[in-house]
Amino acid sequence: MDNFTFYSPTYFVFGKDEENKVGHYVKRFGGSKVLVHFGGGSAERSGLLNKVRQSLNAEGIEFVELGGVQPNPRDGLVYQGIELCRKSGVDFILAVGGGSVIDSAKAIAAGAVYDGDFWDYYEGKVVTKALPLGTVLTISAAGSEGSGDSVITKEQGMYKRATTGEALRPKFSILDPALTQTLPAYQTACGITDIMAHLYERYLTNTKEVEVTDRLIEALLLTMIKEGPRAVADSNDYQARANIMWAGMMAHNNSCGVGRTQDWTSHNIEHELSALYDCAHGAGLAVVMPAVFTYNMHHDVMRFAQVAVRVWGCQMDFEHPEETAKAGIKALQAFLTSIGMPKNFAQLGAKEEDIDELAHKCCWGDVNTGTTGGFVPLNEDDVKAIYKLML
Ligand code: NZQ
Ligand code: ZN
Repeated sequence: MDNFTFYSPTYFVFGKDEENKVGHYVKRFGGSKVLVHFGGGSAERSGLLNKVRQSLNAEGIEFVELGGVQPNPRDGLVYQGIELCRKSGVDFILAVGGGSVIDSAKAIAAGAVYDGDFWDYYEGKVVTKALPLGTVLTISAAGSEGSGDSVITKEQGMYKRATTGEALRPKFSILDPALTQTLPAYQTACGITDIMAHLYERYLTNTKEVEVTDRLIEALLLTMIKEGPRAVADSNDYQARANIMWAGMMAHNNSCGVGRTQDWTSHNIEHELSALYDCAHGAGLAVVMPAVFTYNMHHDVMRFAQVAVRVWGCQMDFEHPEETAKAGIKALQAFLTSIGMPKNFAQLGAKEEDIDELAHKCCWGDVNTGTTGGFVPLNEDDVKAIYKLML
């Protein structure tokens, strides 16, 4: 295991109706003038935003609102949010929504107290200062409710890039599984896929002797395999949604990733797809992961065989471990298909003729330096070959 530090100061409030106490938590964590940030309409339709307004009013907390965050959030709204925060004297940001809303809120939080262009943070500058923020989560997926990460797309050039920093970790996150019951089955499945991807990105490591984190990841993957189909089949299954919601947080607050190198190849390759085609991040990952794993399998066959045996229940073939590894990748793909995820470029709406551009942007776009991935560093030709496996 490698040396590490781990700082995860978010206060989690989990369970039914806990969103009604949001005003109390904003106050507790120092907010007196709040920006309420939300998405394209689901939180208004479900009545959640009204509950938030009522709770803030009940605590005598002033607030301004900025809605309209799109999935795969854009920089344009971030600039608007920064201006609004400065003009209105906002001292706390409340994200009400999914990963896109939370990531947009994080970008605004960092940008509002920075003299330069907030995009600097998405080109490699580490965020050390930001307005405090809290979240009311409405979809289990990105894990942004417990992470210090944010992903934004710059409209000029459609660069989808990430930043990170301890200052971006939410002060509190309210996780009510019942709020996710209004999700369509497809979005639920996209979230399940993303959570599983966060686990695989950490599982694919070059660090030896990481039993505790290996076992945590396997437990969370097994949970997703059991609970995922239940939530897709019955959107009102509260217990399945509760297990998925906590698994989604644990998958990405990095408790499973400490002390080990991580991969993130699948995410980097996927981000080019959701930037260009505006597909759901989880759907993109469902197509990308089997291709990346097939391409990288020979780098460490035993690691792929281990997850195949321990998570997917495959039989270990000691003479031909690559057969076991392949069976595990096949089982993952079959699972993703069974919950309604796409499995190739066409089903995702992606086009073969764009492969050269996608691979080039993935390796060289913006501030990238020629390779991608922490498990196996891949160059532009490797990435092209992986996109071709998705056809
Ligand atoms: O905009 P509204 O109307 O709210 O609709 C959203 C959106 O269309 C809808 N939705 C959310 N909660 C709902 C609901 N519909 C009905 N009922 C509810 N309770 O679902 C759609 C997707 O929402 P979004 O926030 O985009 O989903 P997700 O949480 O998957 O976030 C995706 C974004 O997070 C980034 C992705 O790249 C993508 O941009 N990621 C962020 C990470 C991080 N910050 O740590 C890590 C991830 O790997 C990921 O890259
Ligand atoms: Zn993800």
